[in-house]
Amino acid sequence: MSQSFVPEVLATVGGGWLPSRVLRPAIASRQNLAHISFPREAARRRAMNLAAAPACTNSRPARVSKLNDSECAFCRWLFEQAGLDVSSYRPKTLERRLPACLRALRVVDVARARRRIEKEPQALHQALGAMLIGVTSFFRDAKVFDELQSEILPELLASRSPCRVCSLGCSDGAELYSLAIVLAELGALEHTYLLGADCRPEAIKVARAGHYDANHLHGVSPERLERYFLREDGGFRVRPELRQHARWRVANILRGVEPGIWDVIAFRNVAMYFRAEASHRLWDHLETSLRPGGLLILGKAERPPRSKRFAALGPCLFQRLRR
Ligand SMILES: C[S@@+](CC[C@H](N)C(=O)[O-])C[C@H]1O[C@@H](n2cnc3c(N)ncnc32)[C@H](O)[C@@H]1O
Repeated sequence: MSQSFVPEVLATVGGGWLPSRVLRPAIASRQNLAHISFPREAARRRAMNLAAAPACTNSRPARVSKLNDSECAFCRWLFEQAGLDVSSYRPKTLERRLPACLRALRVVDVARARRRIEKEPQALHQALGAMLIGVTSFFRDAKVFDELQSEILPELLASRSPCRVCSLGCSDGAELYSLAIVLAELGALEHTYLLGADCRPEAIKVARAGHYDANHLHGVSPERLERYFLREDGGFRVRPELRQHARWRVANILRGVEPGIWDVIAFRNVAMYFRAEASHRLWDHLETSLRPGGLLILGKAERPPRSKRFAALGPCLFQRLRR
């Protein structure tokens, strides 16, 4: 198996490895894959070699996969503007997102992108939003929220009040407000402290304002829209009764989880963009920041590393073990 074959067939997920998108459809269609073998240990070693390959580092422009030196240098500079270390992010993510970033800025190359950002600070937010994938929505993965509301949170809340909930990599706040709505419907909002953190100041500004266009609210039922939002300025604003329970921070979560012990941590669709080496410390912090018995909510493609003390409760839902 050539080294370049590894990313073709394996994708890092929560520090472990899963068959990549290339292979999954084949597995799903039960094609005969018996001729392909990738012993776990060998795959792991190859992955480590790959991780040790030159990446976009903070100290020098270096080549990584399809990015050339000036593209690497641009990515490094762009991430620095947000206080981030580009080498913490998976090279594949950078490679995939750079064209989206150039499109968002309406430029054809990184030299023009940098000039535009230096001239127009607002362009920095567009560039970061595209590179860091700010995609989110209310009640994203609706089944997870159904499960939370019907089973998991009522049980957790029975033993926890007041309750502390945080959303790491919260983007524009849709995730934390969705949790706030569920908690309100379970009668627990009054006794809950909610915190959202993201490295993009512009996303946190939107979250704090709690104001969204109608097309951002497709996951919200008409009843909930009526009950938890006010029509304002051509869009909808989260009602103050809900907003007053949420606090927001601009923070690089790779430098540490918000201090304190948490009952629920939503960390969805963020870990998948970090290199495994970069997120080791973060997983340690997540484990120690969650109260034993507390709940970790991940994205569909994510799992905690096996070495961490979590038990799966259902898709995307993990409980911090007590031992
Ligand atoms: C795909 S969005 C996920 C939003 C939300 N959690 C969800 O699942 O709908 C990823 C978010 O992680 C944020 N992010 C990426 N790296 C970060 C870092 N080092 N510190 C804080 N936030 C980060 C991005 O700005 C982006 O808003």
